[in-house]
Amino acid sequence: MMQDDGKRMAAGADEGFMGIVGRTPEMLQVFDLIRRVAASSAPVLVTGESGTGKELVAQAIHALSTRRGDAMVPVHCGAIPEELLESELFGHVKGAFTGAVNARTGRFRLADGGTIFLDEIGEMSPRFQVKLLRVLEDGSFEQVGGSATQRVDVRVVAATHRDLHALAEKGSFRSDLLYRLDVVTIRIPALRERREDIPLIAAHFLAILARRGGPRFELSPEAADCLAAYDWPGNVRELRNVIERAVLLSDGAGILRVSDLPQHVQASGGRAPASAVAQAASTEASKPSCPDLPVQSPASGPWLFGPEGTDFYAELDLFERRMIGRALQLSGGSKREAARLLGVNRTTLLEKLKRKSWSPEDLASPEALPAAPPAETAPESLVPGAPVIADLDWTVPVSPAPAPEPRTAAWAGAIAGMALA
Ligand SMILES: Nc1ncnc2c1ncn2[C@@H]1O[C@H](COP(=O)(O)OP(=O)(O)O)[C@@H](O)[C@H]1O
Ligand SMILES: [Mg+2]
Repeated sequence: MMQDDGKRMAAGADEGFMGIVGRTPEMLQVFDLIRRVAASSAPVLVTGESGTGKELVAQAIHALSTRRGDAMVPVHCGAIPEELLESELFGHVKGAFTGAVNARTGRFRLADGGTIFLDEIGEMSPRFQVKLLRVLEDGSFEQVGGSATQRVDVRVVAATHRDLHALAEKGSFRSDLLYRLDVVTIRIPALRERREDIPLIAAHFLAILARRGGPRFELSPEAADCLAAYDWPGNVRELRNVIERAVLLSDGAGILRVSDLPQHVQASGGRAPASAVAQAASTEASKPSCPDLPVQSPASGPWLFGPEGTDFYAELDLFERRMIGRALQLSGGSKREAARLLGVNRTTLLEKLKRKSWSPEDLASPEALPAAPPAETAPESLVPGAPVIADLDWTVPVSPAPAPEPRTAAWAGAIAGMALA
């Protein structure tokens, strides 16, 4: 799958480039840079806010390089305590320190012939930056507690959400290391800088969920506009979570509507996006971007306050019933699985059911959940210019992705789970 690069590249504009979905000029430029740097072994610095796809870009660089037969080894520098980082990267000899019962192979050695991905390199201490500079210059290092100099052939891709030049000016990032890393910089724009890609990426995540055994969903044009209008501080990662959550909580009718989106995303709908999708979806220039807002059921918000206000506890009850009912439905009645889908302890769910005297069977019955519109109201694709992509690998797997589990609702958490794989 990884060897037919040519085909993937040709299909790039429509189906994503090596699993990176995007059609905006900004992203096409990113794809072009990836293609061009992949051939060499020069270090690459990938910058962009959290969740913009830096790791995906690093994987694409590796997968398109001649090193693809060897490993791509990720190191999340910010997540590893300073005192462990050296042994993690360079390994240690037996007895190097208290607790070093066995020798350990470092990640640079594991990446020999391949690529090391140093994520969040801006978090590395200046003391450690010196050691990294050395291995970047000539591939040499010593294991912790060892005296023999080792040599490896490793391509370095580093990533950061920080402005390393600003850090260098302040003195917290070494400029010599920065110049060494900053040979080629790929800057990934924030999602709000490429709004036209938002519905496309959302459709991509919906297709992944469907492929993993979840229900098949498409975006209503209004929901697509709403997503495109929101600012996405957490970028694609946040979009992924919103889509997954919306599918989980929606009424299963095959169409994701504005009402299935979180309140704060809905709230952004007032600002009309300058998106191609918004323009394509409507010829009326003054059309609000979330026109299906007023017909919401109260349980999914926004809540309608009459002259008397609203009944907070009744609304809350309705919302809980609906959410738990949906989880029970997806889990085929298994309370354990439903609790997992809801992200609560099984006992919490059981207590809630008992306290409210809710019967799981009633909650999960189709009558208890909002009615599904007839199937023929779901056309092939509801998002203009955003075909539902059926057969696309959403990421470039370093190791083959496991087959979807046959368990009920095993698709839930699929996207996030895969991100960690
Ligand atoms: N353009 C994109 N197309 C498809 N999926 C994407 C895209 N950008 C990011 N993702 C997905 O979003 C999540 C976050 O991406 P990641 O590479 O971990 O971001 P970062 O390293 O910048 O924080 C991952 O699940 C990734 O696969
Ligand atoms: Mg990351």
